[in-house]
Amino acid sequence: MPLVATGSIVEPAARSRRGVGAFNVIQLEHAEAIVAGAERAGAPVVLQISENAVRYHGALAPIGRAALAVARAADVPVALHLDHATSAELVREAVQLGFTSVMFDASALAYDANVRATAEVVSRCHADGVWVEAELGEVGGKDGVHAAGARTDPGEAAAFVASTGVDALAVAVGSSHAMLTRDAVLDLDLIAVLDGAVPVPLVLHGSSGVADGHLTAAVEHGMTKVNIATHLNKVFTAAVRACLAGEHDLVDTRRYLGAGRASVTDEVARLLGVLRAVNP
Ligand code: G3H
Ligand code: ZN
Repeated sequence: MPLVATGSIVEPAARSRRGVGAFNVIQLEHAEAIVAGAERAGAPVVLQISENAVRYHGALAPIGRAALAVARAADVPVALHLDHATSAELVREAVQLGFTSVMFDASALAYDANVRATAEVVSRCHADGVWVEAELGEVGGKDGVHAAGARTDPGEAAAFVASTGVDALAVAVGSSHAMLTRDAVLDLDLIAVLDGAVPVPLVLHGSSGVADGHLTAAVEHGMTKVNIATHLNKVFTAAVRACLAGEHDLVDTRRYLGAGRASVTDEVARLLGVLRAVNP
């Protein structure tokens, strides 16, 4: 099963109340681990590369092409998504490389400016057949300051989708980015109201701070694409630490990165079960 359109994974999942795991790739090992975990679970998956990760590498193309190659060789449907792009130029580059979707994040702008900037990106991406996610009601924590208080207004969300033509909407419902503890409390009633008000799939950001039970409940209440980054890095780093501890002569990077990759594979397979991501 090759690289597939993001909508072909997310839209059927939304219709049948399944979640879709969208996991962030920083190193090649992330992409390998995420796809191996999805293959083990027998579930489709979204690989995503954030603008921050692009900044770390200094360019999109090397890590983007690597992720595309891993996706194309997968045994399950895999989509490749540009995450939290604030640069329209980076969006264009991702589309040219063959990414199947982008998130254009103008959530820090005032409502009207967010609508204008997002609508322009949507019309360009749709001309190339690329699916677009946007954010309304800024999910906190992007600046390292946890802020779970923001909430997306359902009426504004419906108007935003109608005015921009986005294919999915990231909403603020109680999560916050980059949490190291899994104790965020989601507003499940608001998720259900947003699901009724908005005609496109909903996206949960900052899902690392959400415990398993709440992730499953979020999907049951109408959340579809669930973005997880920090949690996998925690798992990866713990395995690397354990591998290096006491082995002072260990210098082969494959030994400890391989341990990190194996742990992420296990966790992705487990999380896809929590998200009810497996096709019936
Ligand atoms: O867009 C990516 C996610 O929102 C990841 O957030 O690092 O808190 O899991 P997280
Ligand atoms: Zn996010």
